[in-house]
Amino acid sequence: MSSRRPTAIARRLTLRPALACCAAVLLTLGSTPATARAELFGDYVGYTACAPCHQKQAQGWKATRHGDAFADLATQGEEKQSIPGCFRCHVVGYGKDGGYMDQELTPELADVQCEACHGPGRAHVEAGGDPSLIVAAPGEDVCRLCHTTGQDANFDYANKKHGLHGPEK
Ligand code: HEC
Ligand code: HEC
Ligand code: HEC
Ligand code: HEC
Repeated sequence: MSSRRPTAIARRLTLRPALACCAAVLLTLGSTPATARAELFGDYVGYTACAPCHQKQAQGWKATRHGDAFADLATQGEEKQSIPGCFRCHVVGYGKDGGYMDQELTPELADVQCEACHGPGRAHVEAGGDPSLIVAAPGEDVCRLCHTTGQDANFDYANKKHGLHGPEK
């Protein structure tokens, strides 16, 4: 962790003027305390940072079951939202630097958002959408972090990877 902070700062300092618009978006998002904490701690930014440039995917995703996976926990009792053994597969990056901690500190990382599959997005966002800085097509190994054989025995990647960003894709 100590080794990545200087890198993040260096990246920020080398932002080109043409990308100032993106920095401004980040600064706006950074105005809530929870997001400011994510800024300091790591490279997960939450789906609202992706939405301005990927509106179609963001809207489509929100309507899928991944889009309200955290709220769904409460259907089996509200306390399930505070039990790591439950919420770890219903949020972004639990147990990782900058990932979900709890509803007080990181509410913006609840649900199975973009970065649960595409990896931490800060570098991609700060570089104005450089496609080389994001996982383009998450493979079955990524899904299997949560769709384990214990949890979802009949998980079928080839079928299930369709519709992750809504009906048309
Ligand atoms: C290993 C990852 C993992 C853990 C841990 C986990 N879930 Fe899930 N959960 C999933 C996956 C994957 C699905 C979707 C596939 C399925 O339905 O099994 C799901 C689906 C659900 C659903 C919606 C589908 C349904 O069954 O109605 C609820 C509600 C739910 N989980 C609650 C919980 C609760 C409560 C706990 C803790 C006791 C928990 N989950 C722990 C991965 C997990
Ligand atoms: C559950 C995993 C998962 C989630 C959540 C997810 N994606 Fe994806 N995404 C994928 C997979 C898998 C592909 C590759 C699709 C393919 O190969 O057909 C993909 C492809 C993409 C692409 C490439 C172009 C396209 O549409 O195929 C973009 C852009 C993208 N995702 C953005 C997003 C954004 C933005 C979010 C959040 C709002 C998001 N994704 C949420 C798994 C996910
Ligand atoms: C400033 C605008 C911007 C933001 C913010 C942004 N992206 Fe992108 N993204 C792009 C552009 C531009 C591309 C390249 C599109 C292309 O080549 O067709 C791209 C490509 C992608 C791809 C496909 C990569 C590939 O190689 O095809 C994925 C996946 C993706 N973005 C996910 C995300 C996620 C997840 C977030 C939020 C964490 C995000 N993007 C935030 C602009 C953005
Ligand atoms: C961070 C954990 C996590 C990851 C990673 C993840 N999922 Fe899920 N997925 C879930 C949970 C939790 C649910 C259930 C949400 C609910 O209904 O509350 C779910 C539900 C689904 C569903 C709808 C229920 C069903 O079984 O039809 C599909 C489809 C799905 N996931 C596909 C994928 C694919 C494909 C990938 C990999 C590209 C993936 N998921 C990655 C946690 C995850």
